[in-house]
Amino acid sequence: MKTVLVTGGLGFIGSNFIRLLLNDFSDYHIINLDAVTYAGNPENLKEFTADSRYLFAHGDIGDRELVDKLLQTEKPDFIVNFAAESHVDRSITGPAAFIETNIVGTFTMLEAFRNYCGENDSKCRFLQVSTDEVYGSLGAEGYFLETTPYSPNSPYAASKASADHLVRAYHHTYKLDTLITNCSNNYGPLQFPEKLIPLMISNALEGLALPVYGDGKNVRDWLYVEDHCRALELVMNQAQSGVTYNIGGRNELENIELVKLLCNSLDRRLGLLPDGRARTELIKFVGDRKGHDQRYAIDADKIRKDLGWEPQTNLAQGMEMTIDWYLDNQEWLNQVRDGSYQKYYQEMYG
Ligand code: NAD
Ligand code: DAU
Repeated sequence: MKTVLVTGGLGFIGSNFIRLLLNDFSDYHIINLDAVTYAGNPENLKEFTADSRYLFAHGDIGDRELVDKLLQTEKPDFIVNFAAESHVDRSITGPAAFIETNIVGTFTMLEAFRNYCGENDSKCRFLQVSTDEVYGSLGAEGYFLETTPYSPNSPYAASKASADHLVRAYHHTYKLDTLITNCSNNYGPLQFPEKLIPLMISNALEGLALPVYGDGKNVRDWLYVEDHCRALELVMNQAQSGVTYNIGGRNELENIELVKLLCNSLDRRLGLLPDGRARTELIKFVGDRKGHDQRYAIDADKIRKDLGWEPQTNLAQGMEMTIDWYLDNQEWLNQVRDGSYQKYYQEMYG
């Protein structure tokens, strides 16, 4: 069995990653360290509660004592660090939590990892799950490569860039076995409805306004979450020490096109709104995000060539699967849109 300490495994990508390792492989034992913030939901992995291959540890990646204890008792072969504050809009209104978790928290994990490797002569690897936002914003042309200079524009992106620099430095200075992946926008089941796709689906189901920032022409490069998770499983097992990989599916779309696609799919499945309007009529252009990055686009040739990774889900299939999931899990949506979500929503969208 390979033991993996996953941090942030109750969130969107972390819970999909744990489900993939436990359902599609037979040789993983998982410890999930999660602080259960507003974005962490025990429901996301409830089917594994009684599974002997899965252990949940409630706690903060910034709690050095706890992390040390987990490393000493569980002796993981891999640490996969997903835990983060992940929403750009929240980083604009309240950056402090992003500095605390994404930078100081990652630093704490690295210090505990350094100590663990030193004391145990361990073969443990540390995979930092990062984002393409560290590279900043593209114009109409070009792609992010692993060699693109970092140029983060939001407090979120800057905090992830800082963490990446620390991870890189720990490899260089202490010769620790670290890896970094920088992935584009994920979508799929279990994404919290503060992010574009689940927010639009959930509002469109309720006949609420669909708030599109600015002119809606910002471009994101979408990847189905399971494809990201498969890439991470490959990287953690097969990548050379110290390597960085970009991960993306070459699925670029303007936000407005994406929102229209979601609306049209919902109209096809559910019929028009009760008042006879198409859901595209719910689209409302609102003020732009501060410092809004124009375009992200990943060149993922390195991971394709080195590790043979290919996304398995195209955008049309992935969107339909995602809409299916939200339609089948409206109880989940209602549960996460609780009091604190309502407060956030009012403050953001008034
Ligand atoms: P998410 O917000 O859905 O989940 C974050 C998880 O981390 C939650 O379960 C939360 O409870 C936990 N957490 C937060 N602070 C913690 C702390 N101090 N200690 C322990 N746990 C803590 O995030 P996500 O979208 O699943 O993203 C996961 C990772 O992937 C993040 O590092 C993010 O930067 C990165 N990433 C996300 C995307 C994307 O499109 N969502 C793309 C590329 C990279
Ligand atoms: O690129 C990877 C990043 O993708 C991850 O690192 C982040 O954790 C993840 O949140 C995501 O960041 P984005 O800012 O790109 O995702 P978000 O879903 O917040 O927004 C996608 C686009 O949609 C962006 O251009 C802003 C726009 N948008 C978003 C919201 C929430 C709207 O137009 N209206 C909205 O209400």
